[in-house]
Amino acid sequence: MISEQKISERKPVAYGDMRDWIKALDAAGELKRIDAEVDWNIELGTVARLAQGAADGPALLFNNIRDYGANSRCRQVMTGTLASYRRLAMLMGLPPDTHARELVKLGRTILTEGIAPKIVKTGPVKENVIKGDDVDLNEFPVPQWNRIDGGRYILTYGGVVTKDPNSGIMNVGVYRGMVAGKNLIPILMWRAQHIGHHVTAWQQKGHKEMPIAVAIGWEPSMDFVGGSPVPKDMCEYDVIGAIRGAPVELVKCETVDLHVPATAEIVIEGYLGIDPDSYVMEGPFAEFTGYVAGDRSPKPAIRVTCITHRTDPILRGTIEGSMPGSFSENAVCSSIMRAATAWNVLDRAGVPGVTDVWCPPVQAGTNIFVQIKQSYRNQAKQVANALWGSSAAHVRYKHVTVVDDDIDIHDYAAIDWAIAYRVNAGEDDIVIMPSTFGSGLDPSTRRRDRNVMQFGTGKWARVLIDATINLDYDPDPDLGGARFPPTAWPAPDDIAAAKARWSEFGLDKKKR
Ligand SMILES: Cc1cc2nc3c(=O)[nH]c(=O)nc-3n(C[C@H](O)[C@H](O)[C@H](O)COP(=O)(O)O)c2cc1C
Repeated sequence: MISEQKISERKPVAYGDMRDWIKALDAAGELKRIDAEVDWNIELGTVARLAQGAADGPALLFNNIRDYGANSRCRQVMTGTLASYRRLAMLMGLPPDTHARELVKLGRTILTEGIAPKIVKTGPVKENVIKGDDVDLNEFPVPQWNRIDGGRYILTYGGVVTKDPNSGIMNVGVYRGMVAGKNLIPILMWRAQHIGHHVTAWQQKGHKEMPIAVAIGWEPSMDFVGGSPVPKDMCEYDVIGAIRGAPVELVKCETVDLHVPATAEIVIEGYLGIDPDSYVMEGPFAEFTGYVAGDRSPKPAIRVTCITHRTDPILRGTIEGSMPGSFSENAVCSSIMRAATAWNVLDRAGVPGVTDVWCPPVQAGTNIFVQIKQSYRNQAKQVANALWGSSAAHVRYKHVTVVDDDIDIHDYAAIDWAIAYRVNAGEDDIVIMPSTFGSGLDPSTRRRDRNVMQFGTGKWARVLIDATINLDYDPDPDLGGARFPPTAWPAPDDIAAAKARWSEFGLDKKKR
């Protein structure tokens, strides 16, 4: 399934902690330290958004943050480390120049392997322990990432740890959280997420609060796995262990029965209020769509009971929202994992002939491209039906485009060309599946159709664009029995003959 060559090249790396990851990024020329003073209020977020680029910007370490000088509890913010395929390859233990196509293939299995974590007595994260009234989230240089956000978001790329009260299995997910007071963090979590399953289980046992801990700043595998769809009964710590090729060392929290990485930079412990009467106002927030899409409404909030952190800790955060020319970390990771997950869904459903799957990072899986080797007409419809019928289609796969195996789905021009000349709406190549579950964060959805209670995750009309050659056309005797004319691309012999004279033509020299 995975390219043999790349499997043999994968050498899992246990970076150790975020500081060693920073050293590795430095050595690879992937990190930019910003020593000039930057304001946590809007300026830091603006710089992060402008610098991340189209998956080609550096990771950023802000060393000098306004109001958080020499004597502050925390003075640095790290962002952007996963907004590049080179750095994703590094985290997976592959050469930095590994093509995204290979990362998708590896993504198909990387979330299903496990190495169990190891519990240790203590670790650097316990160097400083703040409890009770001494807790003050304002001591951390939490950015106001965007002018339009409802507040300062301290949770943008932290590993949120919760536990199923019945099985005892821990979950680590990434969920946004805003500072709403010195010890209060309302978060956005959907019922369909694993944290939502835990909330339901704690509620069914009659609890009004659920233990929770957030590990901020550790190895990149935690951020990557926390934001990816790990199967429900697998603990993310096991998956992280497999990615790094060594068990994660965990320590017990001070005030809740949960475990966190011993070398994390910062851990926030507390209880999540799951009784609607305790909800706290949160949002809006510039969301993954690139729009301000997360509404302002009452949400479950973490009542912080304790913060532990390393001395001189580094706050890990990220600018959310992908747009042309500025791809977020979430979008770059999602482009791999949402494609890999879709490919697995298609395989499990028995859809034949799938040769490649890709979700470009600018929209991270809202549109998906599937390349197939067709053997019968309407195979593309089987692709769309399988995807839309799966739980993986939660806020993803709104528009499915299917192409033949001569179309490179990593080349948008190739897809555009296939849509232009292989799609005929009069031949059922465009199919609309109305009123399905969708995304409440998609601004093209009417406001009232974003109602999560009524429509699951919002109401979407989904579209299939079948851009494959129509196998139902009659073979054309004028074309030697083919259904489509040949393209204008020269024959191999003609290409070889022309290339043999390339330098004679002066065409091997660099352009202009
Ligand atoms: C940077 C980032 C921010 C995210 N923010 C949220 C969020 O606020 N709420 C949410 O439900 N999911 C959010 N997600 C998506 C979840 O982390 C993702 O769906 C993950 O698979 C959830 O964990 P689970 O599979 O254990 O449920 C975010 C992902 C990333 C990478």
